[in-house]
Formats: sequence, structure tokens, C-alpha cells
Amino acid sequence: MISNKAVKCLANEEMVVTPWEVRGKIDYERLIREFGTQPLTDELMERMKKDFGELHPQLRRRLFFSHRDLNVILDRFENGQRFVLYTGRGPSGPVHIGHLVPWIFTKYLQEKTGARLYFQMTDDEKFLIEDEMTLEETTKWGYDNALDLIALGFKPEKTSIIFDVRDIFSLYDIAVKVAKRITYSTARAVFGFKDSTNLGWVFWPAIQAVPCFIHAKLTQENVPALIPAAIDQDPYWRITRDIAQKLGYCKPAQIHCRFVPGLGKGGKMSASEPETCIFTIDTPEEVKNKIWNAFTGGKPTIKEQRNTGGNPYLCTIFQYFLYLFEEDDKKISELDENCRTGKVICGDCKTILTERVNRFLKEHQKKREKAKEEIQNFSLKAGEKK
Ligand code: TYM
Repeated sequence: MISNKAVKCLANEEMVVTPWEVRGKIDYERLIREFGTQPLTDELMERMKKDFGELHPQLRRRLFFSHRDLNVILDRFENGQRFVLYTGRGPSGPVHIGHLVPWIFTKYLQEKTGARLYFQMTDDEKFLIEDEMTLEETTKWGYDNALDLIALGFKPEKTSIIFDVRDIFSLYDIAVKVAKRITYSTARAVFGFKDSTNLGWVFWPAIQAVPCFIHAKLTQENVPALIPAAIDQDPYWRITRDIAQKLGYCKPAQIHCRFVPGLGKGGKMSASEPETCIFTIDTPEEVKNKIWNAFTGGKPTIKEQRNTGGNPYLCTIFQYFLYLFEEDDKKISELDENCRTGKVICGDCKTILTERVNRFLKEHQKKREKAKEEIQNFSLKAGEKK
């Protein structure tokens, strides 16, 4: 794996956050400082509450915690001006529930604002980066992963899915304009490229920039994109923001989320550790086994836990309630309290979480099946998208 000079937090060898690698204990305050993003302030929260009528639990719980130019997007919204949404996926295997966090949030934003979504499926990126994968495999995963997006309920009238390899004809003119403006030395400083990095990978960041500007090309309406994603993707937007105005486009804005942890001790949920990862295509039995083997904030014995309580903030199970599987803030506070005082023990929480995840996945898997009939309606068609 390449090292990333600019975004690796060197003073703490434990924490590494790049678009291709996330490990160690993540210090989000420090990421804000080192990436040069802005914290999501109470003032912005208030504005969103006023603008959107309600705050999504992921906002109320500060799971989205950082941004770039969100205020510009809110200004536009409040003035009745348009913007678009943009997010994506690098398809190298099945989708896990961590990936769903920014997508569910994107859906909330789309429902509240009516903005069109451009979703990029980067089969080319994953082919270039993953030594072992063929282009046929990443393309196949791209179509599979799109079913997860559609299953979340996005509507084809407002959503275009860009499959890079298939749709490159619509992307390439913007990609070369972007690439010409970014020097190798900038790209190397931001992404840490080495002599052994393949040429396709070096060019690749220009392709991830394109959907920031594609709406302007397709509709002649030059509006900014707001990108909801976890903070690992931020280096792409740094270079894209630098060159946007030189190309006559608006700078893209971002809203960043934290990482859903894996079920093991420490680290984000990542497909490279499948046993600590809940995939959307897992069977109920697989889900149960993974949850029952999860790292928790519990004590070595039930007796000890009943007497001294557990630590919900060390507990992966609690995090899943917080991120995805308990919408009611009151119940989250109760769970927190009951864990700390030993009223509930890990087995109780694991049973409830297993049941909720399996209930969610049962419905989601049905919707994935149905999405197979709808996927062709989401394609990028030039000139007709507003
Ligand atoms: P990828 O496939 O690594 O991740 C897809 C999206 O999921 C987010 N993510 C997570 N969010 C919360 N918890 C986690 N454990 C977790 N793991 C991943 C990522 O931040 C991302 O938002 N290069 C990109 C594909 C892409 C893209 C984009 C992503 C192309 N254009 C625009 C975001 C926005 C990639 O490989 O994502």
C-alpha cells in the first residue's frame, strides 16, 4: 500500500487516513486540523434544522462532523438556487453497512432539498488499485453494488449512476481538462504516489473529480456539488477545489462523516477484514455469528459487568445502534445508562442488534432483487437532467 505523506498523521503512527487505507484510532479533531476542513458548528446545525425541518439522526449525533463550504450550499438553498449531490463507491466486493451511512444521509438530503444525485461507480479505480482484481470483476461488482444504492429508495428521475468504464465517453473531456491543471508534484504530495505506482492510478484522481462538474456539462447549468462521504475521500476534493474555478466551474462542497467501526477491536469497517464486517448480502446466520463474536465494552464476567457496568463508547455494538439501528435518541441515552450501570449486559445488546440487522437486511435484500429490474432507469443520459 502506498504511503500518503500529506494525509498520514505522522506524529501518531497509529492513525492513517487516506482514500485507500484507514487504520488506527481515529482522532477526528486532528483530521479537521490536518485536512484543513471546518467543524460542523451549532450554527450550521441550526440552519439545517430550519432549512430541512428536522435533523437526521446522523447529524444530531454528530456522526457527520466536518465540512467544506456547506454554508455556501445552505445560502443557495435558502435563496431558492439549485445545487447537486454527488457521492460514490469503489466496487471491489459486496457493500457493507458502513458504506450505507453516507448513502442514507445523501437520500435524506435529496428528500429535503430535491437536488439531483450523481453517483459514481469507480470500477476503473478498483481495477487500477487492487493488484488481484480484473476489470471484469470490478465492473461486475459495480452493477451489484448499484443494487444496494437503488434498494435504499433513490428515484431514477433524480438519480444518475455513472459506471466509469461504460460511461467514460461522457467523462473524458472533463477528466483531461482537470488532469492538465494538476501537476504530478501536487498529486504525489496529496496521494503519496511512488515510482512503483502505475500510470492509471496516477491519472485516476482526475476521473473522481469529473462528477463535480458533470451537471454543468449536461445541462449548461453551472451549479456546485455537495458531496456527502466519510472523511477518507477528502484528499480528492482538495485538489478538485483548487482547479474548479480555473475551469469555469463552482468549487464542490463537502460534508464528512466518521467511520462506522468494524466488529473487531479498533479500525473502520472494511471489506479487507470480512469477519468484522456486515455485508448487505450476508445471511441471518452469518450476521448472528459476526455480532456474537464482536468486540464490546463489556467486562470479562457477567457478575463483574452487573456490578461495575460496561463502557458503551468502547463497544462496537453500541456504535451500530448509534449509527444505524436505533433512531430514538431517548432510547440511545437509556441504553448508554443501562450499560454503564450493568442493567443490560452484552448478550442482551447482541440479541437485539442481531434481530434488527437481520430485519433490515431481509427487507434490503428483497429491494436489491427488485432493483435488478430498475437499474437501467438510472443511467446517465446527456442533456435531459435537471
Ligand atoms: P469506497 O467504496 O471506499 O466507499 C464508499 C463510501 O463509503 C464511505 N465509507 C464509510 N463510511 C462510513 N463508515 C465506514 N466504515 C466506511 N467505509 C467507507 C466512503 O467514504 C465512501 O463515501 N473512491 C471512492 C468512490 C467514489 C466516491 C466518490 C466516494 C467515487 N466518487 C464521491 C464518495 C464520494 C471509494 O472507493 O469509496
